Amino acid sequence: MKIRMDYNNMMQNGMAGKIEKLAPKIKKANAAMVEKRDKMAWRELPYNQEAVVKDISDYVAAVKDDIDAFVVLGIGGSALGPLAVQMALNHPFWNELPREKRGGYPKLYVLDNVDPERLVYFLDTVDATRCLFNVISKSGSTSETMSQFMIIQQVLEQKMGKDGARGRIVCTTDAKSGNLVTIAKDEGYKYFVIPSAVGGRFSEFTPVGLLPAAFCGIDIKGLLVGAAHMDENCKEPDIYKNPAHMYALLHYIGMTEGKNISVMMPYADSLKFISDWYAQLWAESLGKAHDRDGKVVNVGQTPVKALGATDQHSQVQLYAEGPFDKIIVLIGVDEYRETITIPKTYGEMPSLGFLGGVTHNELITTEQAATEYALTKAGRQNMTITLPKVTAHTIGQLLYFFEVATAYAGELLNIDAFDQPGVEEGKNATYAMFGRPGYEAKKAELDAAPAKDKKYIIG
Ligand code: PA5
Repeated sequence: MKIRMDYNNMMQNGMAGKIEKLAPKIKKANAAMVEKRDKMAWRELPYNQEAVVKDISDYVAAVKDDIDAFVVLGIGGSALGPLAVQMALNHPFWNELPREKRGGYPKLYVLDNVDPERLVYFLDTVDATRCLFNVISKSGSTSETMSQFMIIQQVLEQKMGKDGARGRIVCTTDAKSGNLVTIAKDEGYKYFVIPSAVGGRFSEFTPVGLLPAAFCGIDIKGLLVGAAHMDENCKEPDIYKNPAHMYALLHYIGMTEGKNISVMMPYADSLKFISDWYAQLWAESLGKAHDRDGKVVNVGQTPVKALGATDQHSQVQLYAEGPFDKIIVLIGVDEYRETITIPKTYGEMPSLGFLGGVTHNELITTEQAATEYALTKAGRQNMTITLPKVTAHTIGQLLYFFEVATAYAGELLNIDAFDQPGVEEGKNATYAMFGRPGYEAKKAELDAAPAKDKKYIIG
């Protein structure tokens, strides 16, 4: 089952000619993708995770019956993938299902924020001693994740003692660097490794994504096989045969023409959280101040998350008639996993009668086609990615597709798609405000910043 990308509605206004003119740039980007492949360790993940998959499967089999819930403590690239995959592949009301309907697997929670209310309310809801907490942090120093970990560790130790708590914490982190691996070794926590050359937002096919997925009964081998399948398509040098490269190129051309917004609008609730995952990948990778030559470029596209058909009643008005600053990516599904038919209740009322006997499947796909038509008629650039069905294999393809597209867009923009200096600045400022040792200079810089003028604060 192959996902497909239809970019017909991007090809107006001489797009073919624009692509042709960019041939030298495309050739250079293709060469860079080949040359740098061994530096992009995430590209090999579909092929080199066999031992990891076995370790994960053995661990899940040994532990799952002893817990009610698997809880991810992570943020950004350490949370969005696990959530997206779970929501795509499992029942949308997974946690509400009786355990036997979950195939005997535990509930899943992803606690990514440090909103104090959320953590307190979460602890009100579950018996922490029956949860397995997966602390996911590549750096092992992210304040949000590590603070959650410290709170949870204290709660568990108070309730179960050190030995009991040990069995309720599993870490996913770098093998050598950072605090978390040191803590895991010192405290005797089981831990899984994120390969050091794989960055957070490209880590879904490492234990970051595979461990939570396996704890929810997801076919993790299927995810990897799907990713490998997409990798083959993405090796194609002909841009017209390489979906990820073409996706990136069309968005690159859009950016050069002021299309600074990338809208992702799946027509499937199951894919809603793929948009959150994509938003981080696209924003954090491509939003950069400087290019690789040090020139100030301030590039990137703002990702916007939408959901069909819901946002037809919210955002589509803007997409169809607002500024010409967006590329809209619709994501469709050929075959939904369920079918539901609308009864022929009000046959005598023309405005409702036409719905009688129609399935929701037909309604949502027709609405998607109608939106595509309306956007195109209004001269709005859009394209459609279709999954034959939402399966581990097609989700593996989809995630890998966007990862390659992001890397290729980075090449076209001549920026480093794998760093995040803008995020680091905020992290460092937080450390400085708390007086963390080593951040004295940053603290002085913050102290020297002009105070806020009260006249601009109302209320
Ligand atoms: O993509 C990234 O690198 C970031 O979004 C990180 O995933 C995020 O900041 C969390 O970092 P860490 O896994 O080190 O806690």
